[in-house]
Amino acid sequence: MGRKALLDVLGNRMPERRPIWFMRQAGRYLPEYRELRRQAGSFLDLCYSPKLASQVTMQPIDRYDLDAAILFSDILVVPQAMGVGLRFAEGEGPILDVVADMEAVARLKPVRDARQVAAVCETVSRTRQGLPGHVALIGFCGAPWTVASYMIEGGSSEERLKARLAAHRRPSWYDALMDRLIEASCDYLSAQVMAGAEVLQIFDSWAGDLTGDVFEDSVIGPIRTIVDELRLRHPSVPVIVFARGAGSKHGRVAAETGAQAVGIEQAVELASVLKAVPEHCAVQGNLDPVALLAGGERLARRVENVIREVPLHRHVFNLGHGIKPATDPAHVAEAIAAVRAADTRRP
Ligand code: CP3
Repeated sequence: MGRKALLDVLGNRMPERRPIWFMRQAGRYLPEYRELRRQAGSFLDLCYSPKLASQVTMQPIDRYDLDAAILFSDILVVPQAMGVGLRFAEGEGPILDVVADMEAVARLKPVRDARQVAAVCETVSRTRQGLPGHVALIGFCGAPWTVASYMIEGGSSEERLKARLAAHRRPSWYDALMDRLIEASCDYLSAQVMAGAEVLQIFDSWAGDLTGDVFEDSVIGPIRTIVDELRLRHPSVPVIVFARGAGSKHGRVAAETGAQAVGIEQAVELASVLKAVPEHCAVQGNLDPVALLAGGERLARRVENVIREVPLHRHVFNLGHGIKPATDPAHVAEAIAAVRAADTRRP
């Protein structure tokens, strides 16, 4: 099997089988991840060690019958490469310098020459060299809105009210920040493609925060600008847009950003999205991560229900969000087996 099923689906061709990968497929639920993470010392040291990060990227590929590897890194690498202080406090999540006025935005640097970007690109090229022929390599970044929300809040925040208010009021520093993030995202993704990434995913984890014309301005607009620019620089590299929480707006996200696939959170039925997205666009998702956490009989049934909603040639099997750290690694193998079995039974 030399063809890449993921590239076939994203390129509108009939794949040999339904492509499968999982968001956060390399991570704390795997004992071999926890071991390398311990060796590296901190999460960021792991991200910036090309040797260890490419090993982590390969861990789920060595264990499971998957169709894609996703670069092991984080969306907050971009603000750090722009000069923003970042650390991950144990058990607390990320802590960043706050960027919420024009002085702080003016201090941001372009990412092109940052050592963080060089390290990530070395991880990409190392990983690409060792990848089995049927596995595609996915590079990624966070979407401007989601990354801006972490910069404005200075870290994780339950409601992201400060960031959401800025998106509504549009002070000049907010527009300038979004422009800088659009530019940085283009350069960062482009560098990953030149290092060997074959597919790109843009994570807008907090897209569901915004509504109406604010959604249009801060989610769809910036992502469309990035996709347009990438199309010019790398015409053959497909882009997956995951606007988590977009709900009834996924059809518009697909049509207006020009994505080759849209990721769908578990709350939405794939069949309804499929009707709303353009013919050439695939859907990705959307098994509930808690079904994967639960495992057992119900998991197989949930997998079959997801699969029944989408034809093989328009579907990338995945979760509606990342794998939960408490997930039993055996459940991932069960889910993959259930996908393969259900597809074999289909006429
Ligand atoms: O999917 C993969 O396997 C690739 C690696 C990847 C990570 N983060 C590794 C990671 C990817 C694609 C991300 C994206 C990311 N990072 C997003 C968007 C997707 C989503 O989950 O909504 C966001 C919002 C972040 C920001 C981030 N990174 C937070 C808020 C945290 C702390 C919370 C947590 O889960 O611990 C992280 C840390 C992080 N990123 C870990 C991993 C494996 C855990 C770090 C550890 O080992 O302690």
